[in-house]
Parts: sequence; C-alpha cells; structure tokens
Amino acid sequence: MEQHTRTDAYTDRYAARAAGMVASEIRALFAVAARPEVVSLAGGMPYVSALPLDEVGRMVGDLVARNGAEVLQYASAQGDPVLRERICEVMALEGVQASADDVVVTVGAQQALDLVTRIFVDPGDVVLAEAPSYVGALGTFASYQADVVHVPLDEGGLIPAALRETLERLRREGRTVKFLYTVPTFQNPAGVTLTTARRAQILEIAAEYDVLIIEDNPYGLLGFDGDPMRALRADDAERVVYLGSFSKTIASGLRVGWVLAPHAVRAKLVLAAESAILCPSSFSQLAVREYLTTQPWREQIKDFRELYRERRDAMLESLDAFMPEGCTWTRPAGGFFVWLTLPEGLDAKAMAPRALAERVAYVPGTGFYADGDGRRHMRISYCYPEPHRIREGVRRLAGVVEQEIRLRDTFGGVEHQRSPGGVHTPGPDTV
Ligand SMILES: Cc1ncc(COP(=O)(O)O)c(C=O)c1O
Repeated sequence: MEQHTRTDAYTDRYAARAAGMVASEIRALFAVAARPEVVSLAGGMPYVSALPLDEVGRMVGDLVARNGAEVLQYASAQGDPVLRERICEVMALEGVQASADDVVVTVGAQQALDLVTRIFVDPGDVVLAEAPSYVGALGTFASYQADVVHVPLDEGGLIPAALRETLERLRREGRTVKFLYTVPTFQNPAGVTLTTARRAQILEIAAEYDVLIIEDNPYGLLGFDGDPMRALRADDAERVVYLGSFSKTIASGLRVGWVLAPHAVRAKLVLAAESAILCPSSFSQLAVREYLTTQPWREQIKDFRELYRERRDAMLESLDAFMPEGCTWTRPAGGFFVWLTLPEGLDAKAMAPRALAERVAYVPGTGFYADGDGRRHMRISYCYPEPHRIREGVRRLAGVVEQEIRLRDTFGGVEHQRSPGGVHTPGPDTV
C-alpha cells in the first residue's frame, strides 16, 4: 500500500541554515483569506491597478521593439548606469546626496536585504531590529542564522534610550553587533515614523557604539502630509547603508530595488550579487528607466499617496467608530499599515481562525518578532481593499474582538505564550 507521510525525507541533508526557514503557521489561513467573501486586511500588496496600465503596456512594447537586443540581454551585476543616475535623483527627494557609482540595483529591496546580510553576518552574530520588524527581514536574518535582538519602538519610532541600553548590555556581554536594521519611515508593520529629533539621536548612538545602520525605506515617498522625511543616510554617508525600492512607487512585480552603500561595501555587494544572480533583470531595469524618463512619475506617486490616504482615513475612521474599549492602534502618516493592540488577555493569533470565520483576515503580531512575542498585536493594512471594504472589514473585526472580550470575561484571561522558535518566511500575503 502506498504510504503517505508528512515528514520531510530530506531533513538530514539540509544545511543548518535551512532549519530557520519555516513557513508561517498562519499561511494556511491565507488560502481562505483570498476568498472573495473575506475582507483581507492582511496583505501588504500595493494597489498597482492605479497605474495607467495601457500606457505602461505601450511603453514596454515600444521598449522591446526599439531596444530588444539590450532589454533581453545579460548586463552588469551592479545595474544599469542610467537607471542608477535616476535612482540618485529619486533619493535626492529625501535629502540624500549620492553618486550612481555607489548604487547597486537589486531584485527588490528584499534581495538588497539578503546581500547585505550575506556580506556582514556570520551564524550567531547579533543583528538589532525594531520590535516589531518587517517579517521578510526577519526571514532573511534567520536564514543567515543571525541572533536577532529586538529594540522597542513607540509612536515616535525606535526608542533611542532603549537602543543605548541594549547596546550597553551587549557590550557588557562582549557581543559584537553587526548592524541595526530599521525602517524609520512609515514602518512595516507598526506604521510609525522616527521623529526628526530621534533621527539625530539614533545616528549619534550608532556613532558612539560604532554600529552600522541598515535603513530600509520603501515607503518614504508615500507620506500623506508635507515633504518627504529626511533619510538617515542624508546625514551619515559612512555609517548608513540605504535600501530603496520601486515596489510601492511604481510596481512590485517589476522587482527593482537598490542599495546605496559606502564605496568599499558597494564593491562587496556587487560580488555577492554576481554570485547570487549574475545580474538583475535587464528587462525590468530598462522598463523602470524608461518609466522614469518618459512618464509623469512624480504625479503618479501623488496619485498613489491620495489613494492610500483615503484608505488610511477609512481605516482610522472605522476603528474609531467600531473598535471596543481597550483596543489601541497607531495612526500612520504614510505607508500601508496600522498596528493594533488588543486588550489585556486577548490573543491575536488564537483569534485569527475565528476572525476568518467572520470573513476578515489580518496578520497576527507574532510574525513580526523573532522571539515569538507579539500575541496581543496585529497588523491591519489598508493598501489593497477599497474604502468600503476596509470599513466592512474593520466592522467585522470589531465584532470578533467584542466576542473575545466576552469570552475572556466569562472564562478568564488567556495565558500568553511565546510561539515556538522559527521565523516565518514571507509570502505575497504578508509582505
Ligand atoms: C520594510 C520592507 N522592506 C522590504 C520590502 C521588500 O520590498 P521589495 O518588493 O522591494 O523587495 C518590503 C515589502 O513589503 C517592506 O515592507
């Protein structure tokens, strides 16, 4: 008789680093979340349908017809030189002065994270990351067997005093910190932004403890009020490695991102990129280059900002209207995400299947911590559903939270446990 077994017959063959690569326990739930009757506040997918798709289609067609021999060919590992110039113009909007020679084009900011971790981190090395942190970065750090130490954030972003305390403790323990990973602007998942005053403090502390900073900034141009924040990299070119992306400002499917690094680091990154992928896609790079040269990209970003602002407003208004007492949430000034904290004794992870039964999905907070913390939290995103769906989703979610509060009051609090180890690898639903 044929035997069906769910154990992995290759377990003994894997490298040690594969042990940290585990699928999210909630991934199975996402198959259900994708059903049309479910309002998904879980995904972090940009609303690419807002692009002038006919125009982009014509542009790409012309590009291949006119310049196919370049568009469809291998190219340099560092990336197209003209695109790198354009990237410097984009970063200038955040105060960054850079030479195109210090930019490496990558397959999204995700590959930038991978390359940076690859060149700096040995197994067991300490990487500092905000609590909570972007799930995809935690997956990368786990795959290189880093020891992630979290530093808390609040409404004003990463807390400088907590960073200093953590660095002091690690110094006393004789541990070297390889870098601090931070998403200072419109953070994923918390939706908070590092204040201007704290930016200076974080740079000062990093200099004092001689720590490199990895500034991941895919949402920087998607602010709802005023000019873009000044990037950390704008004030320290030697200590900050900057990661950028066109996923949210043009289209995530193109998979074009970049790293801006001090010159020596840039050289190592190019070698690492060569060994990983030979070169980034010429097709995608030249499509982005053409888009930035021929299309009104600044106006398009404005349109995206307006679209996401309207959705953010729909989410905040319905949270204010429907959420029961005891819940708190962040009020993002840009980006895609709200971070919601449940009343004491509730557990967002245990609640997720019950929320799905009520046709609403979110990402439980545990995915955003390397240590299994975060059960009282959840990430709800407003980037993808239309405003009326967001309102309906939040209304349903509020009903589920009310039921949980009643259960808690009847049967007592939930014992908060940390998840068993293992960092979730991101899927398209959790980016
Ligand atoms: C903070 C952060 N960094 C990096 C990425 C990866 O972006 P990309 O599509 O450029 O690989 C994301 C995607 O959501 C993100 O939120």
